[in-house]
Amino acid sequence: MSSGASFYITTPIFYPSDVPHIGHGYTEVAADVLARWHRQSGDDTWLLTGTDEHGQKMLRTASANDMTPREWADRLVESSWLPLLDTLDIANDDFIRTTQERHETSAAAFLQHLYDTGFIYTGDYEGYYCVGCEEYKQPSELVPGTGPFEGELVCAIHSKPVELLQERNYFFRMSEFQDRLLALYEERPDFVQPESARNEVMSFVRQGLADLSISRSSFDWGIQIPWDPQHVVYVWFDALLNYITAIGYGRDDENFRRRWPGIQLVGKDILRFHAVIWPAMLMAAGLDVPKHVFAHGWLLVGGEKMSKSKLTGIAPSQITDVFGSDAFRYYFMRSITFGQDGSFSWEDLSARYQAELANGFGNLASRVVAMITRYFDGRVPEPGALAEADERIRATVATAAAEADAAIERFAIHEAIGAIWAIVEELNGYITEQEPWVLAKKPEQRERLSTVLYTAAEGLRALTVLLSPVMPASTAKLWSALGAEATLGPLLEQPLREAGTWGRLPAGATVSALEALFPRIEQEAGVGAAR
Ligand code: MSP
Repeated sequence: MSSGASFYITTPIFYPSDVPHIGHGYTEVAADVLARWHRQSGDDTWLLTGTDEHGQKMLRTASANDMTPREWADRLVESSWLPLLDTLDIANDDFIRTTQERHETSAAAFLQHLYDTGFIYTGDYEGYYCVGCEEYKQPSELVPGTGPFEGELVCAIHSKPVELLQERNYFFRMSEFQDRLLALYEERPDFVQPESARNEVMSFVRQGLADLSISRSSFDWGIQIPWDPQHVVYVWFDALLNYITAIGYGRDDENFRRRWPGIQLVGKDILRFHAVIWPAMLMAAGLDVPKHVFAHGWLLVGGEKMSKSKLTGIAPSQITDVFGSDAFRYYFMRSITFGQDGSFSWEDLSARYQAELANGFGNLASRVVAMITRYFDGRVPEPGALAEADERIRATVATAAAEADAAIERFAIHEAIGAIWAIVEELNGYITEQEPWVLAKKPEQRERLSTVLYTAAEGLRALTVLLSPVMPASTAKLWSALGAEATLGPLLEQPLREAGTWGRLPAGATVSALEALFPRIEQEAGVGAAR
């Protein structure tokens, strides 16, 4: 299934200075849903995620814990960041760590190339730096501190003092790329998405770009500058390169050509790095810029960006332990317009779990399987001629599949799920109207009953395929309970772009018992104890 177009998508690489929270999980799930959708559509798909292990934040956290940064990164990656992928059922194809040799070698080759072609020069940097952001700051980005930091200038994001740097550094000639970047945003309006992100980036670049300091010499935790080992590469310059080093830049040209350019999915707080610095770096190296940079919004808790440092961090497992990974994936993808901020609350999660997953989807699945078991000895019946109501289901399925695919192309994951959910709603209404339990009492209605239950099962077949990128665990159970695994083969091999074609589930398929897909959750466990 990999002869199609290349679809290479990445998440940001995360700082393993701390453990993951649901904001990190959110990005992982979004990237995974898009990747699963494309993979199952036959596109040549590759999902990359990983960890960003250099820089002062890592160095300081490690020494505060009496460890070397390498030991600290190893510990956090093993105990928290890799397990996160299991917790959330992420089917990533690769996991890059910036301390891996493959990354260091390719990153050094990239730098040397920029140096040799004159895009890097020596200069003096004097200015502010926020270690929390790992970012050089303009005075306009600072605010007066309060409490213990009264009288000092602090970072507006971290509310902690910034540091004044005075160093002889290497600089990247970023200012040379201002016009080309503006032309890029103009000519390819979908390069930065959503529209609000594009506008922000354009007005930022129009104000003028300065050259960027890309090395540090006051500490040594980083990739050495190949021609001057007294310096290490600035952590963002190093980190951004992961998107190409992981696919073989400078080492495996064939694979690099196969995958690149890719799509960078990021949170809106790191948009400028990805939509300004990153394409300028690529332009300087003579490489293609990404296909798209998509910035998603923040998860808000109590109206503020959820963060560990503000003590509002929620671990993904706090949710999955109670509701399961599918519910986590569904909830965040469905309830938040992708690209905008969204508020998280346990009450909203519980309510949607109950109404949409347990009562809406789960119950529909169990009823259909149970009725086929009871009325047809567990064999999917042969349908007769379709009546108007049955045709409506067939049309709903075709429309939902087409709309969902179009929405995914636009990164509108929430719309795709909304379109698919029309099948859940129509099928539930259909069963209520058709009353198969009444038909079952009338022998002369046997053919009608067959048609109704075939229509319901075939609708579920399409629904299962369409929902599999979002809820891989429950759809896998339903797929086998519908007898589809045995007749049509593995769920993940069902071509997604053909999911809306009617009549795939063969009559005669054997259904089997289905445990509740979304079991009832005791109120205390869901809302109280999980906090
Ligand atoms: N290491 C850099 C990224 C380098 S990419 C070349 C970094 N790491 S991070 O661990 O701090 O954050 C990674 C991602 O998590 C960012 O995209 C950020 O937007 C996202 N989130 C952090 N808190 C978030 C929320 N509360 N909500 C949604 N996403 C959030 O930055």
